[in-house]
Amino acid sequence: MSTKRLRILVLVCSTRPGALGPAVGEWLAETLAPCARTLDADLVPLAIGDLQLPFLDEEEHPSTGIYHQEHTRRWSAIVAEADGFVVVTPEYNYGMPATLKNALDYLGPEWAWKPVGFVSYGNTSAGTRAVQHAKQVVTTLRLVPLGSTVAIRIADATREGRFHPAEHLANAAEGLLAELVRVSHALAPLRERECASAVAGPVVGSYARRLVQDDAPEVTVLQRCCWTEEAVANGTLDVPALHESPDQVRAWLADWQTTGLWRDGRLLGMVRTRRSGADLHVGRLAVVPDLRGLGLGRWLLRTAEAAGEGCSRIVLSTGAASTRNLALYQGQGYGPVPTSTDDGVVRLAKTVPA
Ligand SMILES: Cc1cc2nc3c(=O)[nH]c(=O)nc-3n(C[C@H](O)[C@H](O)[C@H](O)COP(=O)(O)O)c2cc1C
Repeated sequence: MSTKRLRILVLVCSTRPGALGPAVGEWLAETLAPCARTLDADLVPLAIGDLQLPFLDEEEHPSTGIYHQEHTRRWSAIVAEADGFVVVTPEYNYGMPATLKNALDYLGPEWAWKPVGFVSYGNTSAGTRAVQHAKQVVTTLRLVPLGSTVAIRIADATREGRFHPAEHLANAAEGLLAELVRVSHALAPLRERECASAVAGPVVGSYARRLVQDDAPEVTVLQRCCWTEEAVANGTLDVPALHESPDQVRAWLADWQTTGLWRDGRLLGMVRTRRSGADLHVGRLAVVPDLRGLGLGRWLLRTAEAAGEGCSRIVLSTGAASTRNLALYQGQGYGPVPTSTDDGVVRLAKTVPA
């Protein structure tokens, strides 16, 4: 599971003067603040009215991502950054308000594989018909509606003209947020796979993307499980990849270009590269032990080598007794670089064709 803090947009959909929506949104934000802290989620309140979205005025279908209007680009960036949504919606004429439908229609891939929970309000139906209506639409966008809902009957939640919902509604709201966070984490691999920078990997369902500092915990785990074998083979525990803390990993992730190979949220392997003069340094090539022998290492090495354009040499190193690594590197054209140091490390290089 990802360790990234989640960004949850709380979208208040009514725009009428004197609408009840803002009071419901404020109650929700206040009620959920402690729970959100515990769940490592940031709640971002947003009134649909503040987006100043006219009725859909884009020429292209949203799936193209071609947006001519500044308001669309702004809305696209907000939705793309979010990891999930809580929609605070009234029921208008047995359905969702036009404001919500319009805001949904503006975008496409930005919504995909993100959970959406509904907090509805209305008269006898407590807004539930609006939610049913919205659920039918959001699934087309690959939004994933939650089973948990908060449904508020206005007459029961209003005292002396003020919004004052009963305790059980606060509990329902907390349950909804907890479910939203769980589903958002579970859907993270699907979101990643579809992000523009991900490329298909060498085994079915796998994809590669650049690793960022937020990936440090997964990288730390991968390193410890992969370099244990190296330590045993080379008879030493003095292997940096075995000891680095997540903070140390975070630090080098900022300096190196690192590619991670993922499947269903699991980091299967990685490799890092950095240029130094005319050399491309390749390092930390790792594949999880249970998927060795399937060509993942060779695929990662080739991916790393692609970053060597314009360099004259690709250099890497491995333990002198790491026979599996040595066989891989020699098979890919690397030869030993003579060195005077006897530190149990073999340095290898390969010339980059001009
Ligand atoms: C145009 C309109 C249509 C409405 N239709 C329904 C309805 O179908 N079902 C319902 O329970 N309440 C309906 N209501 C009452 C709303 O639930 C109530 O006015 C609520 O406060 C609206 O939310 P808002 O104040 O945030 O706009 C409707 C209100 C409006 C203004």
